[in-house]
Amino acid sequence: MSPRPIRFFHRGAIVEAEPAAATRTVLDWLREDALCTGTKEGCAEGDCGACTVVVGELGAGGALEMKPVNACIRFLPTLDGKALFTVEDVAEVGRAGAGSGNGHAEPAEPAGHAGHAGQARHVSHTWQPGQLHPAQQAMVDCHGSQCGFCTPGFVMSLWSCYERHQEGGTRPTRQQLADDLSGNLCRCTGYRPILDAGEAMFDAPPRRLDTASALAALKTLAADAPLARPDFHAPRTLAELAALRFARPDARLLAGSTDIGLWVTKQLKDLPDLIYVGEVADLRTVEERTVDGTQVLSIGAGATLEAAWAALHQRWPLPSMRDMWLRFASLPVRQAGTMGGNVANGSPIGDSAPVLIALDAQIVLRQGERVRRMALADFYVDYMKNRLERGEFVQGVEVPLKNERTLRAYKISKRFDSDISAVSAGLAIRLDAQGIVSEVRLTYGGMAAIVKRAAAAEAALLGQPWTEATLAAGIAALAQDFKPLTDMRASAAYRAQVAGNLLRRFWLETRAEAPLAEHEVSVFARAASTA
Ligand code: FAD
Ligand code: FES
Ligand code: FES
Repeated sequence: MSPRPIRFFHRGAIVEAEPAAATRTVLDWLREDALCTGTKEGCAEGDCGACTVVVGELGAGGALEMKPVNACIRFLPTLDGKALFTVEDVAEVGRAGAGSGNGHAEPAEPAGHAGHAGQARHVSHTWQPGQLHPAQQAMVDCHGSQCGFCTPGFVMSLWSCYERHQEGGTRPTRQQLADDLSGNLCRCTGYRPILDAGEAMFDAPPRRLDTASALAALKTLAADAPLARPDFHAPRTLAELAALRFARPDARLLAGSTDIGLWVTKQLKDLPDLIYVGEVADLRTVEERTVDGTQVLSIGAGATLEAAWAALHQRWPLPSMRDMWLRFASLPVRQAGTMGGNVANGSPIGDSAPVLIALDAQIVLRQGERVRRMALADFYVDYMKNRLERGEFVQGVEVPLKNERTLRAYKISKRFDSDISAVSAGLAIRLDAQGIVSEVRLTYGGMAAIVKRAAAAEAALLGQPWTEATLAAGIAALAQDFKPLTDMRASAAYRAQVAGNLLRRFWLETRAEAPLAEHEVSVFARAASTA
């Protein structure tokens, strides 16, 4: 029996697609097959946002959960069972049938991300032919578009923000608008007019997505059997995933494709068959659990980076953890990428591992019925090599919630938003009553072939008073721990200097007398409203 087609909701109806390869991107399908050419291609690697679309799924309580994602690195089969909204839909918002019903819910705004209470207005004006959506009209009125190439992508990010805040009865601060637009680049306008448009769109009479037809379609699609094509399998339970992974150890596990997508679009690689983990609900949980008597934050491998980092920030509500969260890629990449993908990919400049290792995180690995745990610090063996065995996959990470150490997370990159780290660090220390260092974790990314703790520097600190003299010994010992590389992001000398400076910053913030507050040493003057 031939495999069933990929089925998803698009332009008011359920569509079926039969791509030649599982790695056909949503963008290519939109532009070449669906002839929806409003969605643009700029970089084809998740960096510019020209290809931003919104993917809707059935969320908690049967509401429509909508997320902006990059269509250029998203494979078409991962849309199966979902709703796809593109810029062609936005001008029709409010027209019955273009999606109908009332309201949708994004994942709850993570702590600290809640906008300020605006007028909760649910009255939705109906669609008038030719009338632009408030997001589009605001972009026109505020001169948010010049060459227009980036504009459809911005409109989609603005629309997603608009719907989320209209649903919550809030309005984003200007900084929150900037955070929502962190995945969209514009070469013409300098962004001020676009931020002005983001504020202005809430002043117009509201135009809400009418979601009933999308919700009805999603409920119909939910009855479909799991997608099983020769080159693409989408198991729905952990047991199915474990069995499939064990039976097909040479298949490539696919999560949010924010690493894998570039192997296809930029490195033009052919991939082996794919096992998609995105349909396994049990992998997407983020919750507190007790494991062997230890209270942990359990982050499923399929949890989005946005959900995972929001949960980490909620438990370690530090300005530096918030920066690490918001500076991890951009919102669309964090909405697609997963924590499992980040720790399994094992890039030496992966931003989650330094912080997770400083927090003594365990990685949970599953092979068939067997589940085992190990310290994440022991998981990496060499450049992009880890201890996964054949047929095994990452089920999640577990972060102990109780520890007396003071934590800081640092990311050094050229840009604030959406930039790959030159150096990143997760530093944690505990001082006893006499100010002696009793526990220390100094974990660095970007300094070696793997993310790793600085053992010599830790030894120089342990058991010593946390003084500037001990700090100097720790900085000197870093040279024994790391022989960093020079590459396009930074020179070896710069990395070595920065690693020592981050340890100095950490000392300034954690020394016993007159510790400096984080904002006194942070280079980012963030808008007060987001403090
Ligand atoms: P995928 O791309 O789907 O997979 C990545 C790898 O992990 C593959 O080898 C896959 O087989 C494997 N894998 C996935 N899930 C599992 C599992 N459960 N078990 C075993 N193996 C698994 N990374 C950063 O650290 N910091 C950044 O600032 C950052 N910025 C980025 C900006 C852009 C524009 C882009 C496109 C990427 C960026 N990344 C960044 C990299 C990427 O987003 C992250 O590494 C992300 O976490 C990968 O997750 P994913 O779900 O997309 O993984
Ligand atoms: Fe640049 Fe997709 S084309 S992010
Ligand atoms: Fe030209 Fe934004 S208007 S890139």
